Amino acid sequence: MTWFFICFLVLQSVFCNAEMQKENEIFRYSGSDGSMVKLLKLENKLKKNLEVIGKDLQDKLNMIKLYQTMLEHIPLTGLKKQEEYVANPLNAFALLRRLQQDWPKWLAYLGHQTKMEKMQKHLKLVPSEKDLQTAVEGLLRIESVYNLETSHMAKGLLLDTQYNSYLTTPDCIALAERLFNDTEYARSSHWYRTAMRLYRQPYDTLFSRVLGLKRKKLNRLYAQAIVNEPDNTKTPPADGIDPSWQELAEKMTKNAIRESSSDKITHMVDKYLAVDEKIYINLRAKYKPRPKAMERACRGLWPERKTDHLSCRYVYENSAYLKLAPMKLEQLSLEPVVQLYHDVLYDSEIKAIKNMSVPEAKAKRVELNINQRVADMTGYGMMEHNKLHVLNFALGQGADTKSCKARADRIATIVFYANDVAIGGATIFPKLRLLVQPRRGTALLWYNLNADGAADPLAKHAVCPVVLGSRWAITKCMEQEQRRPSKKLCLA
Ligand SMILES: *[C@@H]1O[C@H](CO)[C@@H](O)[C@H](O)[C@H]1NC(C)=O
Ligand SMILES: *[C@@H]1O[C@H](CO)[C@@H](O)[C@H](O)[C@H]1NC(C)=O
Repeated sequence: MTWFFICFLVLQSVFCNAEMQKENEIFRYSGSDGSMVKLLKLENKLKKNLEVIGKDLQDKLNMIKLYQTMLEHIPLTGLKKQEEYVANPLNAFALLRRLQQDWPKWLAYLGHQTKMEKMQKHLKLVPSEKDLQTAVEGLLRIESVYNLETSHMAKGLLLDTQYNSYLTTPDCIALAERLFNDTEYARSSHWYRTAMRLYRQPYDTLFSRVLGLKRKKLNRLYAQAIVNEPDNTKTPPADGIDPSWQELAEKMTKNAIRESSSDKITHMVDKYLAVDEKIYINLRAKYKPRPKAMERACRGLWPERKTDHLSCRYVYENSAYLKLAPMKLEQLSLEPVVQLYHDVLYDSEIKAIKNMSVPEAKAKRVELNINQRVADMTGYGMMEHNKLHVLNFALGQGADTKSCKARADRIATIVFYANDVAIGGATIFPKLRLLVQPRRGTALLWYNLNADGAADPLAKHAVCPVVLGSRWAITKCMEQEQRRPSKKLCLA
């Protein structure tokens, strides 16, 4: 009944309007066949418009689904799983990169849509370009110090262990681009090649449409890296390689790359990509520079050290307290003295050290206790107002010997390790062939001066880049002047 009534009203108004317009003679469509066909054509155009909009939305939906699939393996819940995920440097780097580079691109790609406010709000919190570049440096340091193979790293193979992690084309491009800008063309070309090999279905459309990584553009970048490679690291002709691709590359001067047509560049790049990665790996191994002492140490290339003449003992001297609770000491070196103390940090202290929001009074108490322990170890009275330096390294961070030169006024350094580092993060003394892997609750003490009071070159040390996990340590330097702990940060 109601429906009938509504229909009646609608029909009536349609007819009335038509009647009125006819009367006013502004009705352009007389109802003749010709003008109705025009209307039909107009509607067909609208249908086409709708189809295009629908296709665009469908494309966008497909891209969204593709990106969701790409990120499917990332744990949504469970703190333990999430911590495990970000402890892997490949995951941590890729996460940072996606937040910095990919997510803002979604805004541009999706254009004007409803329900975008929350996304816009969240995007204000993403890491900065500088944060990303720090992560890039870290991952590249892991690659070079531990002598990892680019293509293996991209597959999640780190130091002979296969992890459930991997890099994607945009991840590899970020690394390649940085190396290119740093004029490390040979390494850059390996990362570009790895990026291109990973540029494939189904994600290739996502890379190109959403992330702005057009294949032709990447081909040109890869070609540029190839022609910039210094001659001594350039991939020379080898068995099993079609010699024509080599000629092609040789003809491609830097300018030629800029001026060449995309087709020509693509042809050249395809030749390079057709070569088995194993051939690149073998050639690359031939041209790798001799590892530095620090790299040899971090790679575990030192022979087992003989420690027969050294000892483990309990320490009672230095303080009345130690007579009651002696510390377990391992003597690692006598000249200079390097000692490892076991179980010298309490769990409650470790928790307080890692927690930025612990109340100041409690932090102060922990600091005083640790200062007292340093005094017990060294026999030096400690200035109690002096701060401890808490250092947290992750994702390839470390320190080389350059940043911790022995200083004439620095008597000793103590490092308390607040956690185990799964892989990497060792404190090394290249001249002593000594490597100390951080163990939760242990402390490493060494003396920086020789008998004459001069800086002892044997005490030079460095920190290997952290590969898996993070490294929490507290460092304390003791300076000669007034036998006070140093206020200066010393990386250890
Ligand atoms: C590399 O250099 C280009 C051109 O100067 C610049 O646009 C780009 O941001 C740089 N990228 C990195 C990762 O340094
Ligand atoms: C950090 O310390 C605050 C204040 O003592 C405490 O409420 C919080 O649970 C601590 N966080 C962690 C992770 O231990």
